[in-house]
Amino acid sequence: MTTATHSTAAPSSTSGKETHRCLICGEGIRPFMTFGPMPLGNGFRRPDDTRPEYRFEMEPAVCPKCTTFQLVRQPSPEQMFHGEYAFFSGTSKRMGEHFRGFAESVRRDFIAGTDPFVVELGSNDGIMLRNFAGWGVRHLGVEPSANVAEAARAQGVRTMVAFFSPDTARAIRGEHGPADAVMAANVMCHIPTINAIAEGIAHLLKPEGVLAFEDPYLGDVLEQTTYDQIYDEHTFLFSVHSVNAIFGRVGLEVIRAEPQWTHGGSMRYTLCRKGVRPVERSVAEVLARERALGVADMATYDRFRRACEAQRDALVGLLRKVKAEGKRVVGYGATSKSTTIMNYCGIGPDLVEFVTDTTPTKQGKVTPGSHVPVRPHADFAARYPEYALLFAYNHAQEIMEKEKAFTAAGGRWITYVPEVKVL
Ligand code: TYD
Repeated sequence: MTTATHSTAAPSSTSGKETHRCLICGEGIRPFMTFGPMPLGNGFRRPDDTRPEYRFEMEPAVCPKCTTFQLVRQPSPEQMFHGEYAFFSGTSKRMGEHFRGFAESVRRDFIAGTDPFVVELGSNDGIMLRNFAGWGVRHLGVEPSANVAEAARAQGVRTMVAFFSPDTARAIRGEHGPADAVMAANVMCHIPTINAIAEGIAHLLKPEGVLAFEDPYLGDVLEQTTYDQIYDEHTFLFSVHSVNAIFGRVGLEVIRAEPQWTHGGSMRYTLCRKGVRPVERSVAEVLARERALGVADMATYDRFRRACEAQRDALVGLLRKVKAEGKRVVGYGATSKSTTIMNYCGIGPDLVEFVTDTTPTKQGKVTPGSHVPVRPHADFAARYPEYALLFAYNHAQEIMEKEKAFTAAGGRWITYVPEVKVL
């Protein structure tokens, strides 16, 4: 086992007890549960790979001052986003429609004037920017993984291979001018150095420019016990409270907050320089929801930990029961999130025969840490199991629609969101 990890900050020790500092404001953060040594969420490997598997101590914490939910330590970005990064956004049809809607709303509400310029951070395979490319809007994707950037370029999306930073922001502004909009989807929550990202964005934006980004939402995680949103790539789980704290440091404020169905519950935040555009009613509404949930209250996280433990015990109990009845269970969707579920619950090939996934780069490999084979959809359809464990619950609608033959043949879905049950 390799456990080379990066702490959020050098821990300081007072009376033998480690204190970790908030990545945003430097305050001492409060860890509230530990998942133990976890593999990378996307660390799929070949079955014959005998090299030690990379692991890191996964421990979520909350900052009592700025309320930011964060991992105490995380692997270096180079471990996670590299030339062979397995995640391609473009694999889901419904996600394609979602990103088209995101692009349309930014274009409609926030881009005016001639020759606008849009930048997307972590633009992946171009699933969002291809819309701007199609409309003839000047755009630039900034994407650290070379293989997915290449896929974007192949469909006419202008993309630079880089990690975004204040230096990258200066270089982009120097070459293309300031941006009307900076966008990101499922990217911001991945970046431990987010203070520097915020600085770069503030530099890159026009005075009236907007930052529009979306990420899995802490409120949904707490309400639905979706602890599988906690994995190495998710350094943060944001709320409007914490987004205001983070970007307020560079003079931006949230002016619109819109809940999204994606990734099992996300929030889209639109920000602008303070006072430049009106703060819409949605912001006060979401802030009130967060206060009612107690996002700033440590007791909330103790309750959450207990809910995770109860959900884990219920899922393992159910899987053992159906296994004892001689039934087959196949996982559906080798998501990064399922890495947390399988490793936290101790689900291996003894309980789940294989996981079916449409992503060619995952097929033929085994799941991170738990080593369950990943197989193409044809293997699922060739001999339906009695149960399919819906790891990709964030695509439930799309999946249920196309798997009517599975249910017609008597197949049942097992879900754990918001609670463990057989559908
Ligand atoms: P994703 O939604 O990106 O979740 P995460 O961020 O946790 O990785 O992953 C969805 C996975 O499910 C992806 O590997 C593709 C797979 N998938 C299928 O196999 N079949 C489907 O019909 C859909 C929608 C997804």
